[in-house]
Amino acid sequence: MPTSETWSNPLRAEHDKRLPRIAGPSGMVLFGITGDLARRKLLPAIYDLANRGLLPAGFTLVGFGRREWSKQDFEDYVLEAVRAGARTAFNEHVWARLAEGLHFVRGNFDDDAAFDRLAATLTELDSTRGTGANWAFYLSIPPESFSNVCHQLQRTGMAEGHGDSWRRVVIEKPFGHNQDSARELNEVVNAVFPEEAVFRIDHYLGKETVQNILALRFANQMFEPLLNAHYVDHVQITMAEDIGLGGRAGYYDGIGAARDVIQNHLIQLLALVAMDEPVSFSPRELQNEKVKVLRATSPITPFSETTARGQYTAGWQGSEQVVGLREEEGFDPESQTETYAAMTLGIQSRRWAGVPFYLRTGKRLGRRVTEIAIVFKEAPHQPFGALDTASLGENAMVIRVQPDEGMLMRFGSKVPGSTMEVRDVNMDFSYSEVFTEQSPEAYERLILDALLDQSSLFPTNEEVELSWAILDPILEYWAHHGSPDEYPAGTWGPRSADDMLARDGRTWRRP
Ligand code: BG6
Repeated sequence: MPTSETWSNPLRAEHDKRLPRIAGPSGMVLFGITGDLARRKLLPAIYDLANRGLLPAGFTLVGFGRREWSKQDFEDYVLEAVRAGARTAFNEHVWARLAEGLHFVRGNFDDDAAFDRLAATLTELDSTRGTGANWAFYLSIPPESFSNVCHQLQRTGMAEGHGDSWRRVVIEKPFGHNQDSARELNEVVNAVFPEEAVFRIDHYLGKETVQNILALRFANQMFEPLLNAHYVDHVQITMAEDIGLGGRAGYYDGIGAARDVIQNHLIQLLALVAMDEPVSFSPRELQNEKVKVLRATSPITPFSETTARGQYTAGWQGSEQVVGLREEEGFDPESQTETYAAMTLGIQSRRWAGVPFYLRTGKRLGRRVTEIAIVFKEAPHQPFGALDTASLGENAMVIRVQPDEGMLMRFGSKVPGSTMEVRDVNMDFSYSEVFTEQSPEAYERLILDALLDQSSLFPTNEEVELSWAILDPILEYWAHHGSPDEYPAGTWGPRSADDMLARDGRTWRRP
């Protein structure tokens, strides 16, 4: 007779998932090496992976850029980025080994000779570093350059592996500025790399707490029965940041909060919270469920009432006096770019019909916090005196993505004493109190997954295009109706965002 253990866990003996997953022989070519992202996130993440022993011994990183750099200059640059940004302690031995695999090739994206040199360099490195001719090309560059780089990789034969070797492309956002441009970019990339070799980065999917949404929902019995229109009143997905946009004008002016954050991070969070259970966590099954829910998602109209946007003006961020967006260096003094965006989405499915999903994001808000709050309906009948429940709010389940990662359940409880007074209490699970393991940085996880050919945490071309399809009508409406409302730095956004929820008889949570 099989025991219940055998029934419930047929795979347990086969594969212990706690064993570290180490990338096989491989290397990476990084385009956009001098960019902010490479310096702050990618280079430190590569060092941290090496320090954790998750990269192959001969791992090789080739930087491609316009600077007149020797190998030593390049090493110095990477070392500085690592020293400033790595999360693990600096280890001379690990660094020395990583530095041996650092190489730099100088050139422009339209320079044939430079790409010929790059191809020759990779061939040479395959024989000297044991990279197995396996290369990931990381495009941390503006989308206008994707076409040039993909074309060059194809022309020089670098885009294709030979025999057992593989070639992959890892792409940073922004992935277009609307659905049409995203589709065009997908065509450009897919003409050179088959979809299974394309890894589009949404770094939110690399965050532990975002992956934990799947664990909370599908490893437990107690939450899932409640997550539907019978019990849920509405969902609020918030990504608030206290930072301003100084130094990011080149990228951000004309782009705005909805394109920068809602199209990718927040819509991905919505998909993970709202999708049905996937058959497995294989890339295809997971992506199928996300695509299904995204297809059913659309913005609620009229946009004059269901959306809000704002731009920060000068104000106080804590004890620091800060300037408004239009005074930030490099921004157009007449800039119409929104730094705050809020919108109401609906999901046309049996599970979610009639439940609004409110999404909001903004810069220079009260504090930095990302959370998903699932707010429940009132109990249908409350056998209490009206005064007893005067301090009872709505039940809520709040998944805190960052900082202070964890989950909070809010419900009513009797206040000790001789009456039946009920008041809200919180039950709080905090990662830092429960686990001793440190969470890896999102980029560590994603770079490792790309090297390991694990694509579950990367949105497909279809997901990207569907996300734009959700957003496009709102962007179109905004483009032709007025301008962003003002809000002083350090507050929680424009009044119009509060009015938007008040019309539905609701309020935003103050995290
Ligand atoms: C990026 C956006 O994708 O995410 C930035 O372009 C934003 O504007 C950043 O600041 C936030 O990331 P995180 O991981 O700090 O929440």
